[in-house]
Amino acid sequence: MSSSQEQAWWWPVALEGEGGSGPLALHLLGRSLVLWRGPGGEPVLLADRCPHRGARLSLGRLAQGRLQCPYHGWQFDASGACALVPATPGFTPPASSAVECFPVRQAHGLLWCDLSGQASHAVPDLSHLPPRRLVYGPFDVATSAPRAVENFLDTSHFAFVHEGWLGDAAHPEVPPYDVTHTADGRPVIEHYRAWQPRASATAAGGAWVDYRYEVLNPFAALLTKREETGGPQDSYVIWACPVTPESCRLWFAQYTTDTETPEQTLRDFQVAIFAQDQPVLESQQPKALPLSGGEAMGAADRLSAAYRRYLRANGIGFGTC
Ligand code: FES
Ligand SMILES: [Fe+2]
Repeated sequence: MSSSQEQAWWWPVALEGEGGSGPLALHLLGRSLVLWRGPGGEPVLLADRCPHRGARLSLGRLAQGRLQCPYHGWQFDASGACALVPATPGFTPPASSAVECFPVRQAHGLLWCDLSGQASHAVPDLSHLPPRRLVYGPFDVATSAPRAVENFLDTSHFAFVHEGWLGDAAHPEVPPYDVTHTADGRPVIEHYRAWQPRASATAAGGAWVDYRYEVLNPFAALLTKREETGGPQDSYVIWACPVTPESCRLWFAQYTTDTETPEQTLRDFQVAIFAQDQPVLESQQPKALPLSGGEAMGAADRLSAAYRRYLRANGIGFGTC
């Protein structure tokens, strides 16, 4: 189970339109949730457990604008209140028959959940990014959310995992870079310079690329890249939903000034890049990210080290060890 620290954030759980009207089973911080649409089409997130005999509500169906349990047909409204017990139709169910209901909101093409009902950290603001947004995923990955985010922040794997694409085996060296922090303590690299054989879906050939990295929250990060000779500016966000301590669900969002390249071309490039990452990422042991030593660190790993310190400072125990 997660601690209260992780519950102080909103987390993404699904694509905005995912599952249609539902019900759809989802998982966040070790909790099972069910997503469905209320009578006005609004997304509703409830605990995926019927208070009657514990059946999964996500196996049920929608009836009269309510979610009906698959077992004895109890119906729950968009606030989680039990509105009907079919076996005793004249009976008014008490408040204790309600299912826990969680705040949900839409942002950045995703649905977000606040498990505590009092999250103090808002969904990150990305209003400064280019308006063309593409969201790729979900990718269900057999490792912890922090391992996935650290991989996104890691530069020294380019020449090996993405050889011929984001890195060149003849130039595996990582140039020196400085890690700074935002006013609220999130690690940032303002400038990181990399030679990339094929930096994007539209790259004509090798180029020097200027990167900027920023951790957005414990399980999300942003990178912005642009070839030094010009061309489109691309920002990529990794959104990680912490499913269990050893599994996560990822989406990658691209915000680009490139208004011409077809979406499928851009999507194919990102899918190909992550297909290179995923087997290595899932091979890492332990799957939880060590925050207190136990893994060797080099000078090229300064951003990883800063990310781990940031997680520790925020008391993130879910998916770390
Ligand atoms: S278990 Fe849900 S109605 Fe009985
Ligand atoms: Fe990678």
